[in-house]
Amino acid sequence: MAPMTIQSAFFDGGVTQEMIDYYAARSGDAGAVIVESAFVENYGRAFPGALGINTDSKIAGLKKLASAIKEKGSKAILQIYHAGRMANGEYNGGHQPISASPVAALRDNAETPLEMTKEQIGFMIEAFANAVHRAIVAGFDGVEIHGANTYILQQFFSPHSNRRNDKWGGDIEKRTTFPLAVLNEAKRVAADHQRDDFIIGYRFSPEEIEEPGIRFEDTMYLLDKLAASGLDYFHFSMGNYTRNSIVNPEDKELLIRKYHALKSDNVAKIPVIGVGGIAQRSDADQALAQGYDMVSVGKGFLVEPTWATKAINGEECAEFADIEQQHQLKIPTPLWEIMDYMIVDSKAEALKHQRIKELQNVEISFEPGEYTAYGYGHNGKLPVTVTFSDDKILDIIVDSSKESDGIANPAFERIPQQIMEGQTLNIDVISGATVSSQAVIDGVSDAVDLAGGNSEALRCKAREAVEWSKEVIEKAVDVVVVGGGGAGLSAALTALDNGKSVILLEKFPAVGGNTVRTGGWVNAAEPKWVKDFPAIAGEVDYLKAIADTPESDIAEEYLADFRTLKDQLANYFLDTESGKNYLFDSVELHLIQTYLGGKRTNLDGESIHGQYDLVQTLTSRAMESIDWLTEKGIDFNRGMVDIAVGALWRRAHKPNRPKGVEFVEKLQKQVIAQGGHIITDARAEELIVDDGKVVGIKATHSDGTKYVLTTNCGVVLASGGFGANTKMLQKYNNYWNEIADDIKTTNSPALIGDGIEKR
Ligand SMILES: Cc1cc2nc3c(=O)[nH]c(=O)nc-3n(C[C@H](O)[C@H](O)[C@H](O)COP(=O)(O)OP(=O)(O)OC[C@H]3O[C@@H](n4cnc5c(N)ncnc54)[C@H](O)[C@@H]3O)c2cc1C
Ligand SMILES: Cc1cc2nc3c(=O)[nH]c(=O)nc-3n(C[C@H](O)[C@H](O)[C@H](O)COP(=O)(O)O)c2cc1C
Repeated sequence: MAPMTIQSAFFDGGVTQEMIDYYAARSGDAGAVIVESAFVENYGRAFPGALGINTDSKIAGLKKLASAIKEKGSKAILQIYHAGRMANGEYNGGHQPISASPVAALRDNAETPLEMTKEQIGFMIEAFANAVHRAIVAGFDGVEIHGANTYILQQFFSPHSNRRNDKWGGDIEKRTTFPLAVLNEAKRVAADHQRDDFIIGYRFSPEEIEEPGIRFEDTMYLLDKLAASGLDYFHFSMGNYTRNSIVNPEDKELLIRKYHALKSDNVAKIPVIGVGGIAQRSDADQALAQGYDMVSVGKGFLVEPTWATKAINGEECAEFADIEQQHQLKIPTPLWEIMDYMIVDSKAEALKHQRIKELQNVEISFEPGEYTAYGYGHNGKLPVTVTFSDDKILDIIVDSSKESDGIANPAFERIPQQIMEGQTLNIDVISGATVSSQAVIDGVSDAVDLAGGNSEALRCKAREAVEWSKEVIEKAVDVVVVGGGGAGLSAALTALDNGKSVILLEKFPAVGGNTVRTGGWVNAAEPKWVKDFPAIAGEVDYLKAIADTPESDIAEEYLADFRTLKDQLANYFLDTESGKNYLFDSVELHLIQTYLGGKRTNLDGESIHGQYDLVQTLTSRAMESIDWLTEKGIDFNRGMVDIAVGALWRRAHKPNRPKGVEFVEKLQKQVIAQGGHIITDARAEELIVDDGKVVGIKATHSDGTKYVLTTNCGVVLASGGFGANTKMLQKYNNYWNEIADDIKTTNSPALIGDGIEKR
């Protein structure tokens, strides 16, 4: 049984009767029960209700626990740990955590630990040794040294948390010193007790996502050193035994296969335990076949206390507990509360199913006529008018005039169509337009009730199964454009203007991407135009501050432009001093502002700024875009110069129509009018490469249809950024101290980095 914290110890970490009952109920079945992590030092708790082995007074309770397990026939092994920088002050009397170096963990509200002195490191090793002594006295058959789950041993080994430059840190060899010292002390204590049979295992997390962080090859180095000292087993710590690298997900090789490929002769001698997601016997068989010598089971034992016996007998093992089983399963309440995702309320589920069945048999009838009800969209009430015959929904009209123009259009077309086609309210919302989709469904639902129908029954009415298409469409075309945002639509139209045939693939139900969500502002320096507008308070002073920027603050490649800007500003200041009042702008000002705005210090302490050739292209050619868009009929408001949200200067060209819909709608119309073929709901997935050259692309429609498109002139990837992909933001971030897992975004949910990272 894998170690699992049950958060049910006394306030000081002493063993409670509840813990004994829980472990006793699961003993005698698995070969060994690895008891949850026990803290070796008073301020090393990682969570409330943690078990402790930090004082001799704990031995009596631990004795009872060990004998309850052994008496049933399982080996009793105790996991020992210290949370290091993960020791939250809240559970440790407000004490600031300690660790190898003062580097906070990358997680919400992580405290920065104090760097351990050499004396503290010595005491910590001694605390582990004392814990081993107490485990022996208490009658345990062994200990598992917790070198995983980001606790203190991992912290000393990790280049992220260990930045020391003494014998405990620096290169990988020195970072191994602390885990090795703990193992050697554990062995010494066992030898002092003349306990050759005392089991000593080591649990490790194979990799860390942090940069720098532990890579699998580093782990194999550590295991080699530990194995050379001698120990009884290694224990992977991971959520699934079939896991591959989390650092390099493209590397699909299973970690256990990598382990065998990279293992040293020393490591080869030590049995290795696999873990994670072993729910049935077949999983255990598969794990053993992959190369683990043993397996451990965690969650399985929570809901199936005789998991091993059932698996050996080839019986099905439960994966969920019923809400009424807590007492019978002897699960303490703190654990029961955190395993809520494994608990089902069978009685309530049965009643629900029965109710759905009943509702599915209800005859639906309406008072014929037209009824108006409301759903709630992005901008408040959304009127929905529904016409009924005595047994059918005949028509649905959604008044979307108040909704965000452009963004939710597919919801207003498709949801009513699907409701009418299926005569059901059991409809999936449309990705990218979930609020509007739900608003339409809710509006129709209320109209159904107004017409004397039964909306609850209609929400349960079975849908026709969608037929999954196996069709493969192969086509040759001059250009394929991936993505129907501003960039994709412009690229498609430019190719069409040049006489090329074009297919544009858009993965969402409607084109628009982030472009349709924009405020509509496009920054482009147009000095002649803005000169007709007066400067406003503060603008001249701001320019003076820019002109006074010391040249030493400007990167070399930007210096020539900066000097040109200073000359321009000197002339401008002469004008303002002579009483002229107008708004100044120039390509050079735009360029220098872009440079200064982007200049910052990254998390590695380096000064970074925008790449000159890109900034130069952006700022010097922005006006070409305005001219081109104007030529394409975009109706810019020339009567005012705006400053875009988040921008540094009044130079935005803004269409009269609010938001980005003006660009998307007009460009889309022209692409279609000029014979471009826009395929929505089609996600581009793979480039077709021949002899190192991209010659096409493969895509899949949401109904399963495959597209294999070959191109004469090429593929344009305009699939946008990755603002809606938090994992990628965290991976590439080198500026913000932290990006929370639940960070919100105004980006379209489509923007997850397709075309940037393979998935
Ligand atoms: C709320 C908000 C407001 C903004 N306001 C402004 C502003 O006022 N002024 C300004 O200059 N900038 C603004 N921006 C930034 C601006 O939106 C972007 O820089 C710009 O829209 C990027 O255009 P794009 O065509 O590259 O990408 P997008 O417009 O995002 O288009 C990318 C398209 O590719 C599609 N796609 C992705 N993957 C695939 C795939 N595998 N297969 C097929 N299709 C795919 C997506 O569905 C999407 O339609 C704003 C951004 C946001 C989020
Ligand atoms: C409630 C709970 C508590 C856990 N506590 C610990 C622990 O104290 N020490 C540890 O190394 N792993 C701990 N784990 C991880 C498990 O040992 C195991 O690796 C993980 O649950 C995956 O195996 P499973 O899918 O069989 O549950 C815990 C897991 C759970 C579900």
